[in-house]
Amino acid sequence: MRFGVLGTGMVGRAIAGKLVAIGHEARMGSREAGNEKALAWVAEAGEGASEGSFADAAGFGEVVVNATAGAHSLEALEAAGAKNLRGKVLIDIGNAMADTQPTTLTVANTDSLGEQIQRAFPEARVVKTLNTMNAGLMVAPDSLGETTNAFLCGDDAGAKAQVTELLETFGWLSGDIIDLGDITAARGMEMYLMLWLKLMGATGTAQFNIRIVKD
Ligand SMILES: NC(=O)c1ccc[n+]([C@@H]2O[C@H](COP(=O)([O-])OP(=O)(O)OC[C@H]3O[C@@H](n4cnc5c(N)ncnc54)[C@H](OP(=O)(O)O)[C@@H]3O)[C@@H](O)[C@H]2O)c1
Repeated sequence: MRFGVLGTGMVGRAIAGKLVAIGHEARMGSREAGNEKALAWVAEAGEGASEGSFADAAGFGEVVVNATAGAHSLEALEAAGAKNLRGKVLIDIGNAMADTQPTTLTVANTDSLGEQIQRAFPEARVVKTLNTMNAGLMVAPDSLGETTNAFLCGDDAGAKAQVTELLETFGWLSGDIIDLGDITAARGMEMYLMLWLKLMGATGTAQFNIRIVKD
C-alpha cells in the first residue's frame, strides 16, 4: 500500500521506516519538500521511500499518518489539504504538547487533538493510536521482552479494523490492541502524556509501556 507520513521527527521516521521495511511505499511529508531529515531518511530507507511537502505526502497516501508536532498538527493537516484526506484512514499519533511548556497540553479534559482533527476534517476517518509510547516501541513492540498494550480509538469501525491489521504487521498481538471506543477516548490517551513524562523521569528511560493486567 501507499502511505503518506506527515512528519520528519522520530515518529515519522520510525513509522515510515517500518512501512517501507515491511514492503509498503511511504512518502514522508514536511512543511517544505526537500527537508534535510526527510532526504536523509529516503537515502537510508531506499526503495519505496520518497519525500515531499505535506500535501505531496497526503496526496500520495492511501492511508495518511499524522506524526507532526501536536500543537501544530491542525496547521500541518490544513497544508496537507482536506481533499487529500477525504475518505482516507488518518492515523493520528500526535500529542498536543505546548511549544513553550512541554508539560502542558494545548487541549485537554473536554476535548483532544484527535477530536479537533476529526472535526476539522470530517471526511477523514481518524484513528488515534500509538501516542502512548516512545517512537521506537511503536514499530518494535517485542523490544521490551514482554508483551505490552497499544490503544486505539475512533468513530469509524472499518478504519479501526484496518489500523488494527496494520499494527499486527508492526508486531502487535491482536489481543494486546485495546479499542477504547469513539474518538473522545483520545482525551485519556493524550492526557496520559503527563504521567508518561513523570514515569520517564522516575525510571530514567523512555523504553517502557503499559501492560494491562486483569482477572
Ligand atoms: N517522539 C516520540 O517518541 C513520540 C511518542 C509519542 C507521540 N509523539 C507525538 O508524535 C508527534 C511527532 O513527534 P516527533 O517527536 O516525531 O516530532 P516533532 O518534533 O514533535 O514534530 C516534527 C514535525 O512537526 C512539524 N511541525 C513543527 N512545527 C510545525 C508548524 N508550525 N506547522 C506545521 N508543522 C510543524 C515538523 O515539520 P517540518 O518537517 O517541516 O520540520 C515535523 O514534520 C508529536 O505530536 C508527538 O507529541 C511522539
